[in-house]
Amino acid sequence: MTVHLPGTDNAEAERLREQIARTLTRARERTATLTDCLDEAELVAQHSRLMSPLVWDLAHIGNQEELWLVRDVGGRDPVRADIDQLYDAFQHPRADRPALPLLDPAEARAYAGTVRQKVWDVLAGADLRAEPPLTEGAHAPATDERRTRLVGSGFAFGMIAQHEQQHDETMLATHQLRAGASVLNAPPTPTPVAPVSGEIHIPAGEFVMGTSTDPWALDNERPAHPVRLPGFVIDAAPVTNAQYLEFIADGGYRRPELWSERGWAHRVEADLIAPQFWEQDGAGSWWRRVFGTMIRVRPQQPVVHVCWFEAQAYATWAGKRLPTEAEWEKAARFDPATGRSRRFPWGDADPDETTANLGQRHLEPADVGAYPAGASPAGVHQLIGDVWEWTSSDLQPYPGFEAFPYREYSEVFFGGDYKMLRGGSFGADQVACRGTFRNWDHPIRRQIFSGFRLARDLRPDERDAR
Ligand code: AVJ
Ligand code: FE
Repeated sequence: MTVHLPGTDNAEAERLREQIARTLTRARERTATLTDCLDEAELVAQHSRLMSPLVWDLAHIGNQEELWLVRDVGGRDPVRADIDQLYDAFQHPRADRPALPLLDPAEARAYAGTVRQKVWDVLAGADLRAEPPLTEGAHAPATDERRTRLVGSGFAFGMIAQHEQQHDETMLATHQLRAGASVLNAPPTPTPVAPVSGEIHIPAGEFVMGTSTDPWALDNERPAHPVRLPGFVIDAAPVTNAQYLEFIADGGYRRPELWSERGWAHRVEADLIAPQFWEQDGAGSWWRRVFGTMIRVRPQQPVVHVCWFEAQAYATWAGKRLPTEAEWEKAARFDPATGRSRRFPWGDADPDETTANLGQRHLEPADVGAYPAGASPAGVHQLIGDVWEWTSSDLQPYPGFEAFPYREYSEVFFGGDYKMLRGGSFGADQVACRGTFRNWDHPIRRQIFSGFRLARDLRPDERDAR
C-alpha cells in the first residue's frame, strides 16, 4: 500500500483520508465474506484446536479497532469496556476460546459495526498531517507525542487495517480446516506464460534491510539498516508440488538423516507423510483438499501447507538450504541498477492482479511462471503472494528496534520458538504484505499457507567466475 505522505498539504491529507477509508472498508468486506457464508453453529464451532471460533476473530477485530482507534487515537469513551479481557489474545489460548462467554454472531457483527461507525467519526477529525512513526532514538514518548506518532500518516488506521486482514487470512485458514463443502468462490489462478526454474545468483554486497520511511510498516520492520551478505544463489521460483513429490517418492519422510533431530521427532509423533490436506488414491495419485473440494495435485503449483521441519528436510535432500531472512529480502528488494531497496520485487508500485497472487483473489497458489510482471530485477519470481516462504531465520529484532505502539505485536515473541516467513500468500492482503513485511510461526505449524524456496552458498568455482 503506497501511503502518500501528507506533509502539511491539505489535499494530500484528504487523499490519505479517503485511502484509509477504502482500506478499512476492503478489510471489513472480506471479514463479511468469510463470516456471512456460515451459519451460527459453524461460526461458534471450533474447527481446529489451532484456531479460534470465527466468531471470536470477528469480535476481536472490532475490539482491537475500539482499543486503538476509538479510545486511544479518538480519545472517546469505550463502546464495551466489559469485553476487553474476552478478546485479549494473551488472556486465552486459542483452544480455550470456544468455552468463553463470547458475543454471539449477531452481537459480534453489531459490535464491530458500532466501532466502525465511531471510527469514521474519529477519522474525519484526525490530523493526518503529522510525522510518520519513524523509528530513530529509543525513548518512551510522552502521551501527546505518542498520539501524534499514532495518527501521523494514518499509521494507527493502517495498523488496524493490517490487523483485520491478518485475522482474515487466519479465518481463511480456518475455512481450509473445516469439514464440509466449500462456501467460498474465486476465479482460477492465471496460467503461466513461460515456465520458470533454475537458480539466480545474487552478488555479494551491502543492501538496506527493513525500512524507516514506509509509513505503515510495523515496528518489527524498522529501522532500515545496512546488511552485507556474501554472494549466494536463490531459486527463481518456490518449490513446486512436482519437486516435492520427488522428495516423497525418494523416501523423504522415511529417512531420519534428512531431518533435524527435533524435526524427525515431530515427523514421527505427528505421523507426517505428505503436506497437510494431501491424500493418495488407490492408484497412487495424490489429491489435495482445497476448501472442501478434492483437487488433483497440480505439478507446477508451489507446495503449500508444509511445516518448517518439512521444508528443511526437503532442502537437505536437495543438497541446498533455506534462505536466511536477509537473503530473501535482498533477493526481493535489492535493485542492482540503483543500489536501492525497493518496496516490492517489481518496484515501488502497489501490487495488482498482474504482479502478485494476493488478497484471496484466488483460493490457491498460482503455478510457477504465472506472474512474470512481478519478478525482481535479478529474475526471481513469485516472491510476493502465492505462499508464505519459510526462511532459516529465527524471530529477532533489527538493530535499533523500538516497540511501537505495543510490545505485544512483536517484542514479546522475540527469541521464542518461531521461524520467519516472508512474502505473503494468496490469502494475504496487499496492505499486510510488502518486501519488508515479517511473519513468523512455530516450526511445526502448517495450517498456514506456507511453502518455501531454496538457496545455497556459492561454490568456489562460482566465486572465481565473478
Ligand atoms: C504476525 C501473523 C504472527 O496472527 O498471530 C494478529 C498477527 N497479531 N493479532 C498472528 C497478529 C495480533 C500475528 N502474526
Ligand atoms: Fe489479533
